[in-house]
Amino acid sequence: MRTAIYPGSFDPVTLGHADIIQRAEKLVDRLIVAVLHNPAKTSTFSVEERVQMLRELVAPFPNVEVTSFHGLLVNFARQHDADCIIRGVRAFSDFEYEFQMALVNRKLAPDLETIFLMPKEKYSAVSSRLVREIGSMGGELKELVPEPLLDRIVTRLAKG
Ligand code: PNS
Repeated sequence: MRTAIYPGSFDPVTLGHADIIQRAEKLVDRLIVAVLHNPAKTSTFSVEERVQMLRELVAPFPNVEVTSFHGLLVNFARQHDADCIIRGVRAFSDFEYEFQMALVNRKLAPDLETIFLMPKEKYSAVSSRLVREIGSMGGELKELVPEPLLDRIVTRLAKG
C-alpha cells in the first residue's frame, strides 16, 4: 500500500491545492493532507478551520484524509508509514525553496521521496497569500478558492 503526505500551511486552501489533491490521490492508495501547526508563523485561519475546510473538500475521495501535525515533516511521515511527500510546483520561482526543502528532507529521511506535481496552468498564479490579500480588500475570490468554501473564506477574510 502506497501512502503519500501532502503537507502545507493551506491558509486558506486554494483551487491550486485542490488540483494537486486530485492529481495525487490517483497516484497512491492513501493520501494524507497535513496542515502544519506552526507557532512561529501567524496564520489567518486557525488550524481547526483549515482542517475543517480541507475535510469538506476531500469528502468525495475515500482514500484522502486530513490532519494536522507539529514538528518535523519526516517524523510525521514516518509515524504514518508514508512512502512519499507531495508538493505542488506552480512556477520556476517555487523551485528553489522546494528543492531546498526536498534535499533537507532527503538528508533526514533518505527513503522518503518528494514528488512534485504541477497544477493546471490557470492556477499557476494562485496562492494563499494572494487569496488573503484580495479577500481582505473585498476582491473577487471565485477563481481562486473552491466554490463550496467560497462564502466562508470571503466572510472570514472580510472580518479580518
Ligand atoms: O504551504 P507551505 O507553507 O509552503 O508548507 C511548508 C511545509 C509545511 C511543507 C514546511 O514548512 C514543513 O514541512 N514544515 C515542517 C518542519 C520541517 O519538517 N522542516 C524541515 C524541512 S524544510
